[in-house]
Amino acid sequence: MSSRGSMPNTVVVGLQWGDEGKGKVVDHLAAHARWVVRFQGGNNAGHTLVVNGEKVVLHVVPSGILQPGATCVVAGGVVIDPAVFCTELDGLVARGVGLDRLRVSTEAFVILPSHRAVDAAREDALGAARIGTTRRGIGPAYEDKVARRGVRVGDLLDPARLDARLRALLPVHAHAMRGAGADPASLPSLADTLAWAAPLAARLRPLAADTVALLHGALERGEPILFEGAQGTLLDLDHGTYPFVTSSTTLAGGVCAGAGVGPRDIGQVVGVAKAYATRVGEGPFPTEIFDAAADHIRRVGAEFGSTTGRPRRCGWLDIPLLRHAVRLNGVSALALTKLDVLSGLPAVRLCVGHRGPDGQPCGAGRVAEAEPVYEELPGWAEPVAGVTARDDLPAAARAYLARVEALVGVPIVLLGTGPRREDLWIRPDMDPAAPRP
Ligand code: IMP
Repeated sequence: MSSRGSMPNTVVVGLQWGDEGKGKVVDHLAAHARWVVRFQGGNNAGHTLVVNGEKVVLHVVPSGILQPGATCVVAGGVVIDPAVFCTELDGLVARGVGLDRLRVSTEAFVILPSHRAVDAAREDALGAARIGTTRRGIGPAYEDKVARRGVRVGDLLDPARLDARLRALLPVHAHAMRGAGADPASLPSLADTLAWAAPLAARLRPLAADTVALLHGALERGEPILFEGAQGTLLDLDHGTYPFVTSSTTLAGGVCAGAGVGPRDIGQVVGVAKAYATRVGEGPFPTEIFDAAADHIRRVGAEFGSTTGRPRRCGWLDIPLLRHAVRLNGVSALALTKLDVLSGLPAVRLCVGHRGPDGQPCGAGRVAEAEPVYEELPGWAEPVAGVTARDDLPAAARAYLARVEALVGVPIVLLGTGPRREDLWIRPDMDPAAPRP
């Protein structure tokens, strides 16, 4: 450990249904990290970065790639579509970003073209009962991992092994297509898949590494590590709104399995929530609204998916679900984003409880059937972007934040006040990026 002290090893995790604005929080913390690690999910995630004045959308590469002092790791818990990944690499290289600080685990699983086809065919077959997946093949790739027949990055790099794995796997995908009422002949053949894989493997080879060994070396040297979560707590496979969830462990606990570190290697968990709530895809959303406030939030907050472009469903902040998410992740500090989006609403609401169909209060486990119980607070008209002291916020915005903190029981240490990188208020005495001895 350096004598100057460093940022504790930090997990950034979404507390809602993804799209909480984790990118801005990761950006702030990554400047103090030596390693930035993705540990789960795949190119179902997406965030937009501005590099030398140009927009780049990253889906798999950790956003820390823009921090010159950080090495970025795509750990074994991630599923990688190598074609999408290489397109991201091209975008970064074209904008002058070097890839010498990027490592990909040989243990990460590969999303094949046939995984995408199966994902889409199943969604089509489900019709109105669909999950609303991103159709990127995420679920089918994780299914094959769990079924112990998946293809890993290490396999991709070894043509003979890849050939053998695909011979066993592709018939399973043909069967899945038939099960979904789709034509298996539309799947890429073995030869097609091998031809697809070869140039991608050549690109991945210099980046492939034993990332568990890399991270344990970092831990031994006391180099600060930032673990960047994708999606959000309510999309977690075990604890989210199943079956309307993604296929990975999105919780802070997923860091241990996905990156191969122990729970004691994690120093703090920063939970990110928007000042309201959004969801893409199907599934329960008790505080969803369809009125003028929803239109305001979608328009001002630009609430359209960065991966699929779908309009996001919008609603009020759900405090009981947020409290649940805080517990599930062991959140020690709260980052609240996009407060500016609420400026201009005549009133703002907080969901402070849920009632079941019997009229009785109910917990997060029954969210599908819950009716929200609201508390209404006065709105504020003034913009809040660029506010650098919490005392300078409009009184009604301050009251809103104080109420959120009191109800959730965790301090807000970071506050997003506008779309720009610098529109971020940092609580001076509790900056999670601050060095600790
Ligand atoms: P999948 O991860 O593509 O299988 O999709 C499962 C569910 O998770 C769907 O409701 C998706 O809309 C949602 N989802 C997956 N990734 C993200 C994300 O990064 N942000 C928000 N929702 C996501």
